[in-house]
Amino acid sequence: MTTLFDRYDLAGRILKNRLVMAPMTRARAKNGIADAQTALYYSQRAGAGLIVTEGTPISQEGQGFAYVPGIWSEEQVKGWRLTTDAVHGEGGTIFAQIWHVGRMSHNSLQPGGKAPVSATAQPARDANSMAFAFDDQGEPGFIQASVPRALGTEEVKRVVNDFANAATNAAEAGFDGVELHGANGYLFEQFLNPTVNDRTDRYGAATMEDRTRFLLEVVDAAIERIGSARVGIRLSPYGQLFQMAHYPEIEATYLHLAAELSKRNLAYVHFMDQGSRGSSPMPVGFLQSFRAAYSGTLILAGGLDQTKAESLVRDGLINLPAFGEPFIANPDLAERFRQGWPLAQADRDSFYGGTTLGYTDYAAYRDLAAWPNAAPAARSI
Ligand SMILES: Cc1cc2nc3c(=O)[nH]c(=O)nc-3n(C[C@H](O)[C@H](O)[C@H](O)COP(=O)(O)O)c2cc1C
Repeated sequence: MTTLFDRYDLAGRILKNRLVMAPMTRARAKNGIADAQTALYYSQRAGAGLIVTEGTPISQEGQGFAYVPGIWSEEQVKGWRLTTDAVHGEGGTIFAQIWHVGRMSHNSLQPGGKAPVSATAQPARDANSMAFAFDDQGEPGFIQASVPRALGTEEVKRVVNDFANAATNAAEAGFDGVELHGANGYLFEQFLNPTVNDRTDRYGAATMEDRTRFLLEVVDAAIERIGSARVGIRLSPYGQLFQMAHYPEIEATYLHLAAELSKRNLAYVHFMDQGSRGSSPMPVGFLQSFRAAYSGTLILAGGLDQTKAESLVRDGLINLPAFGEPFIANPDLAERFRQGWPLAQADRDSFYGGTTLGYTDYAAYRDLAAWPNAAPAARSI
């Protein structure tokens, strides 16, 4: 019987087990460059079969969060190289999650203080629609996202190209692949969702083909640069984060994507079920339909524990389970699952920004057990 600890062939790359570390923004890169601390953080978690990095912006325009490490400049590529070398040194596999937030940004993060860009000129205006940006006094904090500007039809190509360049940069930085961030209300969803996309051009809301065109153009451009086996994509069907209202054709839209993405032989599709984060959960029936329609590797994240993960894999609904929060406080999560060791709880106050506290100071269980008094900060188990 297959277990979570069996190896897995991910488009020709052998993962040492089936546990995926989900992408998590930690906002500790003061100058936007991944550094030695970033490398330490990821190498501590290299017991995962696959690590997906925090979202890394493809351009300054794509950034909606201060202090996140980007992947558009040479220095940023050099910075990420420390991480990929460290993870590979531990026998791990690591994909970079490449990210454009679209309208979920703020003028203070944009080149020249300009408006963020999106599929639409309508801002997200619910209480959660915040960017982590700078106020008038230059102080960082959560601020209402700014009013965006709709990308011109020809300009969309430039953003497609920015994604393609980020894929090339990721390969140069030593990543095993990229994950396009098509989830959680960011730029791809702003095109996909007809309650947000109010365009009338070939990327507009009139047809499903038009709404999915931008996403598929980026997928194709990334494949052209680094090959399909190195391109994955994250999606969050039924997610409502950042004012993504439900619409009647959700299932049809994602089944259309299932068919299109199956043709392209991607490394994987990675679902985030936002049910564990306050949105309505992804219906089980939808997961079954997508599974039937999509021929490649399917990853799922969102409120999983070991038991749920095992049963989803056993039932053939997914290939690989992904874990977010549990990987923050349990760098050795795979080993804890394998041994039945207890899990530590993450300190939510230190999720974003700050120092090495709550970042690289969570100990492996083996070290905690051997050196209980020496354990740094000994974040509770
Ligand atoms: C601190 C934190 C930061 C996150 N940042 C990202 C991100 O950059 N990109 C993304 O796609 N999801 C992000 N997520 C969502 C996680 O990838 C994951 O899907 C979510 O936490 C649900 O999984 P879990 O219940 O195992 O934590 C983040 C979650 C947390 C807790």
